[in-house]
Amino acid sequence: MCGIVGVISEEQNAGILAYKALKKLDYRGYDSWGIAISNGKGISIYRQVGKIGELPKKMHCGNLAVAHTRWATHGKVCQKNTHPHASLNKNIFLVHNGIVENFQELKSFLKSSGFSFRSDTDTEVIPNLIELYINRGKSLRDATRLALKKIKGSFAVILFAKGHNYMIAAKRDLPLVIGIAERKKFVASDLLAIAKKARGFLFLSDNEIAEIGNEAKFFDIGSGRPKFKRFEHLAVDNLESYKNGNKHYMIKEIKECPIAMKNACIQPIELLDNTTKEIRKAKKIFLIGCGTSYHAALFGAWLFRSIAKKDAVAVLAPDLKSYSKLLGKAALVVALSQSGETADVIDAVRLARRSGAKILSLTNVFNSTLTRHSHIKMMMNAGPEICVASTKNYAAQISLLYLLANACISRRNYAKKEIFIAAKQAQETIRENSRIARAISKKLANSKSAFVIGSEENAFVAFEGALKIKEVSYIHAEGLPAKELKHGTIALVEKGLPVIVICTKSDDFALHSAHEVKSRGAFVIGISTEKNNVFDFFIRVPRGPLSSLLTAIQLQLIAYYLAVERKNDPDKPRNLAKSVTVR
Ligand code: AGP
Repeated sequence: MCGIVGVISEEQNAGILAYKALKKLDYRGYDSWGIAISNGKGISIYRQVGKIGELPKKMHCGNLAVAHTRWATHGKVCQKNTHPHASLNKNIFLVHNGIVENFQELKSFLKSSGFSFRSDTDTEVIPNLIELYINRGKSLRDATRLALKKIKGSFAVILFAKGHNYMIAAKRDLPLVIGIAERKKFVASDLLAIAKKARGFLFLSDNEIAEIGNEAKFFDIGSGRPKFKRFEHLAVDNLESYKNGNKHYMIKEIKECPIAMKNACIQPIELLDNTTKEIRKAKKIFLIGCGTSYHAALFGAWLFRSIAKKDAVAVLAPDLKSYSKLLGKAALVVALSQSGETADVIDAVRLARRSGAKILSLTNVFNSTLTRHSHIKMMMNAGPEICVASTKNYAAQISLLYLLANACISRRNYAKKEIFIAAKQAQETIRENSRIARAISKKLANSKSAFVIGSEENAFVAFEGALKIKEVSYIHAEGLPAKELKHGTIALVEKGLPVIVICTKSDDFALHSAHEVKSRGAFVIGISTEKNNVFDFFIRVPRGPLSSLLTAIQLQLIAYYLAVERKNDPDKPRNLAKSVTVR
């Protein structure tokens, strides 16, 4: 969740370079930021609560720097808890992503060895443990290795130490990429941070530690043995994203749904054939994900059941363990994740791999941790998704799942044609319906609560629509299957309650529910293929096999305009981070 960066330079510009790289991670969601810079003579630290602001002029000089954006897990959001953290005697300066699960135990141990603490974070035990081992005569590298061996949980760390002209980077389960360029080297938790600066890249593997100075050397954390690794050239040109005249990334990315739908279909033929073969072969298919990706998994499982006639279920990634006895060689686990870094998904995939199940991952981030744990990897090709709330990646996920389900019954070309038709319709409906979506948002802006209902597959779209509304407008919203309403939730319906009804079929059951809530005073908004008198507001979407996806995009639009109407920043919703790398 946190963003971390390290820079070593032959010039005195490491601070500025680290600061600029950190700014590229601004989109991820964070609550505070900080930077430590060494110029060989002294070390300065700057830490701030809130968004990344200006870097003070006095911080501009230095050849070594580490920087951090924090998403609080241990200790409240305040300056003393902001990274970088220093060891007791200010020998080690460190930034950390991850959670030290046994930090209480390590803290007590360090306290009994004479250490005291300045913050409430779990992180602070790491620089202090390193200092302890240095005090006991170990080298910086060995002291870091020993400290990291004591840590339970996932981590990615970058540090430098007083009197040492190099940085150290190490990781377990969380990503770290190293980049080299003329007269400087970078380390970052996200390729995007350094993509434009470096010319050669290398992803650190789990339990590896790197010493990065004039050269970059690699070692195994456990044994200390050296490892040989090679820098590669990567195609990173498409990683950057700009608002292109749009006020927010969210609206820009909603407008990019049509192209994302089409690009999701551009898959290497051999990969598509191989994936189709695996889906056909599987006795049982588990589609897993979290948040929006879970909603796509629900839709995908429905497509696999209804089109491909496969035994497929969607499972929230952390719940896969309750199915562990049902996994095994005959099972296929389809892991969906925009970032490819969601800890709960990666844990579930590890568990599935141990059972012998095949793993197919659908991600949007090249070389993400999830892709490295998968037997088959497909890219969404949605392009960088900067807004914390996922929009175009969801459109790409549904499109690719639809293509795969159809490929299983030899209807690949038919599916592609339908996706291209739907993409064109999506483009038209985004343009035509923006005005009405804005009007609906004005009407709903002061609501305390809203419901989104749909029947069959549209229930999954309703879940996603409600999540989008919650994430960016902060209005409580609940998505539910239309038929479920009368089993309890209808008790909450009262005069003026907004209920968004999704209808995409001629005899759509959701219409009955629309009448039921209307007769109890609800304010009914229909996103539908047909106009109906029961609707107080109406958004039209064309009828077709992907109408449900078109309604999901309209819900994204409503959520966006609600956020704008309520003066929220839709790109960086409070308390949220783009990739959830903590458990
Ligand atoms: C989406 O709008 C959310 N920010 C969130 O639910 C997200 O979908 C979830 O955390 C999973 O992320 P992933 O797709 O990167 O794994």
